[in-house]
Formats: sequence, structure tokens, C-alpha cells
Amino acid sequence: METANQIMSLGTFQVLKLPLGFIRVLEWLFAIFAFATCGGYSGQLRVSVDCINKSDSNLSIGINFAYPFRLNRVEFDVPMCEGRRQERLYLIGDFSSSAEFFVTIAVFSFLYSLLATVVYIFFQNKYRENNRGPLIDFIVTVVFSFMWLVSSSAWAKGLSDVKASTDPDEVVLLMSACKVQTNKCSSVYGPRWSGLNTSVVFGYLNFVLWAGNIWFVFKETGWHKGGAARYPSSSSEKQTTAFNQQVYNQGSFDQSGGAFTGTGDFAQSEYSQVGNYGGPISYTNQ
Ligand SMILES: *[C@@H]1O[C@H](CO)[C@@H](O)[C@H](O)[C@H]1NC(C)=O
Ligand SMILES: *[C@@H]1O[C@H](CO)[C@@H](O)[C@H](O)[C@H]1NC(C)=O
Repeated sequence: METANQIMSLGTFQVLKLPLGFIRVLEWLFAIFAFATCGGYSGQLRVSVDCINKSDSNLSIGINFAYPFRLNRVEFDVPMCEGRRQERLYLIGDFSSSAEFFVTIAVFSFLYSLLATVVYIFFQNKYRENNRGPLIDFIVTVVFSFMWLVSSSAWAKGLSDVKASTDPDEVVLLMSACKVQTNKCSSVYGPRWSGLNTSVVFGYLNFVLWAGNIWFVFKETGWHKGGAARYPSSSSEKQTTAFNQQVYNQGSFDQSGGAFTGTGDFAQSEYSQVGNYGGPISYTNQ
């Protein structure tokens, strides 16, 4: 494992950038899916009230609701099966907090991963300066992973409550006409949930992505090497040489250990490349 890390962190930053940058791009794509599927949702259910006096019936009562799922503000009129009289009813519950929390995290997560991608590509040197970039990146990534887990779980719970509250069979129980046995109330159709189910799946996928990325950002900080060997800035030739040498040592050590022969070979080939690039390197201390 250590060999693999060393290879990943070889001074040539294409190798090092690859997983981190790629995951950031996935992160902002998945964040878009998460907030679009949740924030853009609108659903409808339809019930019928069939009164004993047919002229009072309404066989197609549509009830619309949408993000942010303040269902207790969704009103609809239903016949009372007493002449023309109607009653105004509301759905039950307000699930806006979990839905808005989820969408907020998704939007900020989108913005951050977009910003981070731009910084990796165009402000590489600024990012490395004093190790501040990796440090901030690491903290933000840990926070977002946690937030994705919390908000996805909160939204998964919120969604199950929304489903219960908009179940047509539950909605007809709110109607006074339906408490009279002679009137027949039934569900015509319920809301489609595929969009919202997708949003929860993307929420957890985002958690997995961010949590996985903690590792790659952690490597950027250089802490796993005990702080002794920081990643050299590309401007410092001397540092780079020392660093390459260290990688070489590590590679040959692991190869002799036999545990990572495959990666050992890779390390060797990487080394020869770097050696050619790096120019004259003295190995006096080996
Ligand atoms: C039935 O309810 C819908 C609202 O969902 C309303 O638009 C329609 O006019 C009602 N029909 C009758 C016959 O009252
Ligand atoms: C049915 O409703 C109509 C008009 O609303 C009314 O004239 C009639 O008497 C009602 N019939 C019954 C059986 O209630």
C-alpha cells in the first residue's frame, strides 16, 4: 500500500492529480443530480369520492405538491356528500427542513467541488503554498462527507414521511364524507417516486465519493509521512531531487520485501523516468 502511495505522490503531478481531480468532477456531477432530482420535484396524487347521491360526487380530485414539501400548506377541496357542500383540507406534515438541508448541502458541495477542480488545474502552486491548500481541502472534504451522510439520512427519513403523508389511501381518511360507510372513497393513483428515490441514492453516492476523497486529499497534506517529507513545489529543483531519491529507496525496499512485486516494477520504471528527467543525481548516501 505504501508503495502505491509513493507512486501516486511522485513529483510529476499528473499522476497525483488524477484520482483527486477525477473524483471532484464526479462530485459536482452527482451534486447536480442530487439537487435537481430533489429540488425540481413535483408530484400529484388523485382520489375519488363517490357519494351515495351521485350528483355530489367528485371522481377525480387531484392534489399537487412539490419541493420543499410543506405539505401542511397543500390545500384541496373535497365534496362532503351533503348537497353542494365542500370542505377544504390540507395534507399533513412539513418536511421542508430535511429537503432544504439536503438541497443546500448539494448546492454548496457542487460549488466547492467546482471551485476545487479549478484550483487544482489553474492554481496548482498557490494550492501547495505552505501546505495551506491541502489542509483546507482536507478539512472541507471531511466536513462535506459528514454533511452528505447526515443530510442524506435526514432526507431519506423525510422522504419516507412524505410518502406516508401523500399515500392516497391515507389522504381519503382525512375526508369527513369518507367516514360515512355509504360513500365510497378510493385512490385513483399515487405520486411517482422515482425522482426522489434517485435523489436519496445520489445523496449516499455523494457521501461515498466525498469520504473516499478524504484519502486522496489526506495524501496531499503529506501528513502520512510524519510531516518530514512534504511534497516539493515544482520550482525547487533540489528538493525534487531529494524527493525522487527517497521514492527510489522506498521502491527498491518494497521490491526486496516481495509483498508488492507488481508495484515494485512500476516504481522502478517510474524511477528511471524520473531519473532521466531529473538529470544528474548523486547516490552517495546509498
Ligand atoms: C373535482 O375536484 C377538482 C379539484 O381536484 C375540481 O377542479 C373539480 O372541479 C371537481 N369536480 C367537481 C364535479 O366538483
Ligand atoms: C341529491 O342531490 C340533489 C341536488 O343536490 C337533491 O335534489 C336530491 O334530493 C339529493 N338526493 C338524495 C337522495 O339525497
